[in-house]
Amino acid sequence: MEKSKIILKTKRLNLRPLQKGDEETIFPFANNPKIAKFLTYDTPVTLEKEAKYVAEREKRFGRKGFYFIAFEKKTKDFVGLIDLHCYHDQYKRAEVGLWVQEGKWRKGFGKEIARAIIDFGFKKLKLNRIEYCTFVGNTPSESLIRKLGGKLEGTRRDYFVKNGKKISDKIYSILRNEWVGKKKRKAK
Ligand SMILES: CC(C)(COP(=O)(O)OP(=O)(O)OC[C@H]1O[C@@H](n2cnc3c(N)ncnc32)[C@H](O)[C@@H]1OP(=O)(O)O)[C@@H](O)C(=O)NCCC(=O)NCCS
Repeated sequence: MEKSKIILKTKRLNLRPLQKGDEETIFPFANNPKIAKFLTYDTPVTLEKEAKYVAEREKRFGRKGFYFIAFEKKTKDFVGLIDLHCYHDQYKRAEVGLWVQEGKWRKGFGKEIARAIIDFGFKKLKLNRIEYCTFVGNTPSESLIRKLGGKLEGTRRDYFVKNGKKISDKIYSILRNEWVGKKKRKAK
């Protein structure tokens, strides 16, 4: 699969693979404590750190994961980042990671980019299972995955430590048959 050709399109958004230079766009939005609160990194972030993040994902693309940046078609505004990481071709599974810049919250963009990457995972990568993990207490994120049909598997107790604080997270999954079946049912 040639990376440059992987463009995911939704009704309102274009998603293309992360590439060198994107750190300039991402950096001011990633540097928001409200975004970092429910992610493993912490603020403040530097432009250098963000550039390293992008470069690493460019290198891993197609082997360890698929990393996209989303822009609004109409305004060209940056909307957020979405990926499938922990990708295992052998086991046919991967995990979704995402965030939406604060100015675009509660407009349905989170669901839109998550739906696009899950679709890509099941249809193009032929995955059997897609995971979605979220810190306990992240109501918007949990609500998003539930709306997309994610099934709660359980809570990983004290799974992370961030700033000396133990954090548990909830693991959701969607299986191939549930996603493809759901789409077929909708089409009827
Ligand atoms: C989680 C996140 C991606 C949601 O993005 P979003 O674009 O606002 O999400 P959507 O507008 O698609 O909303 C999805 C559902 O979540 C719910 N939701 C969104 N924000 C909410 C909030 N603040 N409180 C309660 N529910 C909320 C809504 O019920 C919505 O469903 P509905 O409007 O169709 O009924 C965004 O809040 C974010 O980037 N947060 C910080 C980083 C993060 O937590 N990432 C996820 C890590 S697992």
